[in-house]
Amino acid sequence: MTMRDQILGLPGQLRWAAGQAQPSVSAPAALLTGMGGSAMACDVASLTAVHHPVPVHRGYGLPPWAKDGLVVAVSYSGNTEETLSSVEAAMVRGLTVAVVASGGRLVDLAADNGWPHVAVPAGLQPRAALGYLAGGALRVIEGAGLIPSQVEELEEAATVVESLLTGGEAWKQAEAIADRLDGKVAVIYGGSGPSAVAARRWKTQINENAKRPAFWSELPELDHNEIMGWSQSGEKVRPYAVVLLRDPADHPRVRLRMELTRELIAPRITVAGEVRAFGNGLLARLFSLIVVGDALSLTLAERAGIDPVPVATIEELKLRLQEA
Ligand code: F6R
Repeated sequence: MTMRDQILGLPGQLRWAAGQAQPSVSAPAALLTGMGGSAMACDVASLTAVHHPVPVHRGYGLPPWAKDGLVVAVSYSGNTEETLSSVEAAMVRGLTVAVVASGGRLVDLAADNGWPHVAVPAGLQPRAALGYLAGGALRVIEGAGLIPSQVEELEEAATVVESLLTGGEAWKQAEAIADRLDGKVAVIYGGSGPSAVAARRWKTQINENAKRPAFWSELPELDHNEIMGWSQSGEKVRPYAVVLLRDPADHPRVRLRMELTRELIAPRITVAGEVRAFGNGLLARLFSLIVVGDALSLTLAERAGIDPVPVATIEELKLRLQEA
C-alpha cells in the first residue's frame, strides 16, 4: 500500500477503534510504553487522561516508580526491543500488562499469559497505523476505568480528518507550507497539550516519510530559551523555517505567546505557515493538526522523488542491535 493510501486510511482507523470492544482490565493506575510511531499513539492516549495521569515511557525497562497498576505496551510490530524490555520489567515486578500490537513476540506473550490484547490490523508502517494504535491504547485505558469513553471523540476525529483529506484542505495547506519550506529544515512549534503532540508527530513524519531533518518544540517553554536561537539575523539561521501549530483550546497566555513569538522571530527566520486545529473534542483538534503534517511529509517526499514508505536506516539499526 502506498503512503498516500495509508494516510487516507486514517479516518477509517479511528472509526475502527471506536467500534472495538473495551478490554476489561482492573487497575488503579496505568503507564503507556512504546517507541517511535507506537509511542506517538501512547502520547495521544495519555493526553485524554484528565482525571488520573497516564504517563508515557519511551525506553528500556520501567521507571522506578512504576510499582503497581497496568503497563500498556504498544508496539505495531510487537517486536520492539525497548518495549519488550518494559514488559519483561513489568513481569518481574508482578504488574498487570495489556498489549496493543499487530503481531510479533508481544502477541505471543499476551496469549501465553492471558493478557488483554487489542489486535490491530497488520501490513502497514507503524507510523501509518496511528489511528489503530492510539485508538487501541485509548480503549485499554478506558477499559481500566481511567478515562471516560472516547467513542464519540474518535468518531468526531474521523469526520474532521476525513473532511480535511477529501475536501482537499489538508493537501492545500501542505502544498503551501512545502513551497515556503523550500529546502529549509522545518522547526515545528506547538503549545503544550494536543498541539505539542502534533508538533512531535510532524517532526517524526518529516523525518521518516520525507527523510529530512526536522525539529519540534513547545510553548511556553521555548519562549524561555529557543527563541534566542533566532535572535541573530543572517546566514546562520536561514536554513531553518518555523511552522506554528495552534489550538484554540491552548491556554490564553500560550495563544498570546504564539502571536508575540511569531512577531519577534518573523524578521529573522522564515515562518513557513501556521496551522489551526479544527473540531470540538481534543482528539478531533489533535488529529486535524496531525493530518496536515502527514500530508506535508508526503508532499515533501513526492517533490523530492523519495519513496516515503521504507525506513531502511531504522531497519538496519534494529538488525545490527539484534546481531550485537
Ligand atoms: C516506522 C516507525 C517507527 C516504529 C518504531 C517502533 O514506521 O514509525 O518509528 O514505530 O521503530 O516499532 P514498533 O512501532 O513496531 O514498536
